[in-house]
Amino acid sequence: MKVLYIKASPKPKDRSASHKIAEAFIEEYIENNPKDEIIELNLTEKGCPYVNYEILCDLVERKGLMVKTANKFMEYDKFIISSPMWNLSIPGILKSYIDLVTVKGITFEYGKLGIPVGLAKGKKAFYLGSRGGGYPFPLSLITFDMKYIKYIFRFIGIKDFKSFILENVDKSPEKIKQNFEKTLKEVRKLAKKF
Ligand SMILES: Cc1cc2nc3c(=O)[nH]c(=O)nc-3n(C[C@H](O)[C@H](O)[C@H](O)COP(=O)(O)O)c2cc1C
Repeated sequence: MKVLYIKASPKPKDRSASHKIAEAFIEEYIENNPKDEIIELNLTEKGCPYVNYEILCDLVERKGLMVKTANKFMEYDKFIISSPMWNLSIPGILKSYIDLVTVKGITFEYGKLGIPVGLAKGKKAFYLGSRGGGYPFPLSLITFDMKYIKYIFRFIGIKDFKSFILENVDKSPEKIKQNFEKTLKEVRKLAKKF
């Protein structure tokens, strides 16, 4: 299996809450799936351009960055995404990546009745998120980080989607620190089933 690890936080590994939990997840995953190939895509290190007019013109001719990135995306069987919540949503760079891979004719198409059909069928995804605050119901209704990734992945055909979100990272840092081993244990348990 080919696994793509998409990392959205611009912070270095040791300072990023989302990356720390994703690292434990990946470590456990490798232990259980030693033959799988895991490729890390650190979006801020690699850079991810906004879709501009030139990129859109290339797309009309079925070439360029969107076609290339979407085709590359389709080579993977599984996706692990780690991301902080930014302004109730995901960092812009992760949205830019989604804009590059959501391409008609590659990751989705329109069916006979005009209904969109995902082409990335049979693939799996796991989202590991961190949030500065806590969002119990009804505040959960205004969170658009994990929810957005879940539904855009569903749009392109990835229905097998699971997530783990660490909340209150900034609100109660001491508590988070105290419980971190327990958190990592929980994350490792989920990785075993992915
Ligand atoms: C630009 C920016 C916007 C943020 N917006 C939110 C927010 O809307 N809600 C929230 O709970 N935390 C917010 N945070 C806090 C982060 O979600 C939190 O610190 C998270 O744990 C960071 O993950 P990381 O260490 O992996 O980067 C924001 C942080 C930044 C830098």
